[in-house]
Amino acid sequence: MKKLKFGIIGCGGIANGKHIPAILQQQDAEISAYCDIIIQRAESANEKYSLGKAKVFADYKQLLEEKLDAVCICTPNNMHCEMTVNALLSGKHVMCEKPMAMNYTETLKMIDARDKSGKLFTIGYQNRYRRDSLLLKKECEKGTLGDIYLGKAIALRRRAVPTWGVFLDEEKQGGGPLIDIGTHALDLTLYMMNNYQPLYAVGTIYHKLNKDTQTANAWGDWDTEKFTVEDSAFGFVVMKNGATIVLESSWALNTLNAREAVCELCGTKAGAEMLTSGKLRFNGVNNNEQYETTYNFASGGVAFYEGKTINDNYLEAKTFIDAILGSGKLIVEPEQAAMITRILEGIYISAKQKKPYYFE
Ligand SMILES: NC(=O)c1ccc[n+]([C@@H]2O[C@H](COP(=O)([O-])OP(=O)(O)OC[C@H]3O[C@@H](n4cnc5c(N)ncnc54)[C@H](O)[C@@H]3O)[C@@H](O)[C@H]2O)c1
Repeated sequence: MKKLKFGIIGCGGIANGKHIPAILQQQDAEISAYCDIIIQRAESANEKYSLGKAKVFADYKQLLEEKLDAVCICTPNNMHCEMTVNALLSGKHVMCEKPMAMNYTETLKMIDARDKSGKLFTIGYQNRYRRDSLLLKKECEKGTLGDIYLGKAIALRRRAVPTWGVFLDEEKQGGGPLIDIGTHALDLTLYMMNNYQPLYAVGTIYHKLNKDTQTANAWGDWDTEKFTVEDSAFGFVVMKNGATIVLESSWALNTLNAREAVCELCGTKAGAEMLTSGKLRFNGVNNNEQYETTYNFASGGVAFYEGKTINDNYLEAKTFIDAILGSGKLIVEPEQAAMITRILEGIYISAKQKKPYYFE
């Protein structure tokens, strides 16, 4: 069978760490083109992964002139909208990295381009494909938790500020930990609750540690002059059905309870929390007694699938490819990702204006 031809736009951390290896594991896809404004990055990806047989470009518009089925957009946040719109309108299916865009207005343009093009469009929220997430989603759909009226979205690092690329640059990224990692935690929380209707948000943002030196940071000291985005941000969101979402995000916080891309849900029938160990714990009351049940994914279970290691990155790419081939459905819909971007934007606006932000 003919393989789907993929192009990679932006050959940095997430392309090398997630998309390229995940596509190479698929039997129905291959990478035919690489693009990076730093052309050496596209060339070295081509050498490393495609034995120099793919095409390389510095200008993504030239890559879009190629006969490709799909592209993965792995560039800084400020390029997501423009590149997605042009890729869709040039007839490519698109997997764009998170966050979907810098703001809600951009997400609407992207969805409009998807509708005009008739192509598939999804966002790289790979945490949805983790085993704990897949199981929690199933239980939420079965109604195990009842009416979920509190969701905690947690993305807290003690000292792990991303110092490479443009992560600290407000103009190119649109914000710091809230838009960067808060986005994953909020995505998981709303996906589990199946609730995408916010009423209002109250937010706070902090620039408390970005002038620190000798930081004990995981990726080395940050440049205090370039660190223009917030280092922590917190949000309190009330949904139209009355449910509360509490979002905590930080790249650098004095906490011993650091955890990332996790959520905790409290419903009328039971509660559930994603643990740092990767385990998933439920709690509730049964037979007039309180109980806790923990799923431990490390013990037993399926480690291999079609001879390939199953992981969230592999499943993310497989889901996209299956949807293109008509043998499956997308899991991350752009309409959902757009609401995540909208809520994050509301939290930023509330923090800047120092008052609640109402979503119209
Ligand atoms: N899903 C996840 O968990 C996850 C993790 C990390 C990053 N990301 C997202 O991926 C995106 C990129 O992050 P990264 O860590 O790979 O950053 P990076 O800086 O390592 O890589 C970005 C690459 O894009 C290239 N680039 C910039 N502008 C370009 C342009 N106009 N045309 C072509 N190439 C261009 C840069 O030269 C660089 O090589 C961001 O949106 C980020 O939020 C997602």
